[in-house]
Amino acid sequence: MKKVKCLRLNDQGEGVCYIDKKVVFVPELLPKDEAFIRILKDKKNFMEGEVIKYLSFSDDRVKAICPYRSCGCALKELNYKKQLEYKEEKVKNIIKKFSGLDNVVIDIIPSKKTNYYRNKITLKVHNKVGYFKNKTNEFLAIENCALADKRINDIIVILNTLNLENVKEITIKAFDNVMIIIDGVLDIEKLKKYAASIYMDKRLVYGSKYIKATINGLKFNISKDSFFQVNTDMIEVLYNEAIKLTSKKGQALDLFCGTGTISLILSKYFDKVIGIEINKEAIDCANENKILNKIDNVDFICGDANEVCKNLKDKMNTVIVDPPRAGLSKNGINNILRINPEEIIYVSCNPLTLVRDLNILKENYTVEKIIPVDLFPNTYHVECITLLTNIKPGKDGGCYF
Ligand SMILES: C[S@@+](CC[C@H](N)C(=O)[O-])C[C@H]1O[C@@H](n2cnc3c(N)ncnc32)[C@H](O)[C@@H]1O
Repeated sequence: MKKVKCLRLNDQGEGVCYIDKKVVFVPELLPKDEAFIRILKDKKNFMEGEVIKYLSFSDDRVKAICPYRSCGCALKELNYKKQLEYKEEKVKNIIKKFSGLDNVVIDIIPSKKTNYYRNKITLKVHNKVGYFKNKTNEFLAIENCALADKRINDIIVILNTLNLENVKEITIKAFDNVMIIIDGVLDIEKLKKYAASIYMDKRLVYGSKYIKATINGLKFNISKDSFFQVNTDMIEVLYNEAIKLTSKKGQALDLFCGTGTISLILSKYFDKVIGIEINKEAIDCANENKILNKIDNVDFICGDANEVCKNLKDKMNTVIVDPPRAGLSKNGINNILRINPEEIIYVSCNPLTLVRDLNILKENYTVEKIIPVDLFPNTYHVECITLLTNIKPGKDGGCYF
């Protein structure tokens, strides 16, 4: 056992301490906490430890609603003001360290809710529902989840009363209405009154194919395997901040468009919008959502956004990208540079791949500002919206082939 004092948090929200000048990362330690820890791993350049006993607590600690340890919410015991400071600093540090860019990250936008904000969770099942403990395959049974929408919590209570022995995993999505997706077999009778749609072993067994969400007054059908932003009350905030940064003229390209949310919201500001998405189910939703909202100036294309945009012949004034955590491919970046839009809005959930991609884009674009947005309270994750403007725009703006 070793006694340590936590100095700060690392990028994964773990406490950073030192033992004999060697760094040790300890989950669930907050800056200024003192504790006895056990070393779990001793690598060449760092160690990993776990708390055995707290000796004194940081003044910034709060009592979390969530009673579980190691559930993955690294910051849940840090007061929300400090969580925001941590995320804003983290983005600033990553951007400065890896790109040299300073003074581009502006104030973080806080989440409207800090608990019960998630509209989707995936539960592991071992007779009860739960999660795998952080960085392990060790099952943690839960009775509730303080991140998840209250309707999801009601369903967790019911699930724990059912015979779950033939179930591996359950995903619950709660937007305007609720969908339950069961990987395995289960008696669903008691679940029906809580859900508009239930899938079992990939087949629709109850209710409707889609569930619904309303964003910026537009209606969206969402299918079983389509992506949708997880913090319900922040979806409009995120999209509206991104849209504010566009020049709102000419044509726009929405890469990684999911069910067409950004494209359809953009449609009233642009003459034409093209959305590209690789998931066929999501693009089918996008096309249906276009009809549902009576919008006729948006085209959706199913394919790899990094590749498909190579063949586009239209001029684009604005390109919005919202890729998964892996960011853009080199090819994708080259294709965007060849399109040569006046501005690029880069929506990212991973500051490390964001900065990697900005380092290439900044040869032709000025990084005007990066807006961190807290879509994931109590976790170390942070979303960023970046505005890049063209250093060498063409005469009439847009792309040149
Ligand atoms: C972060 S989500 C953004 C979706 C959408 N913009 C939204 O806000 O709902 C990323 C999306 O990229 C899609 N995707 C992943 N790889 C892709 C690729 N290579 N080409 C096109 N879409 C891809 C995923 O299916 C997912 O819908």
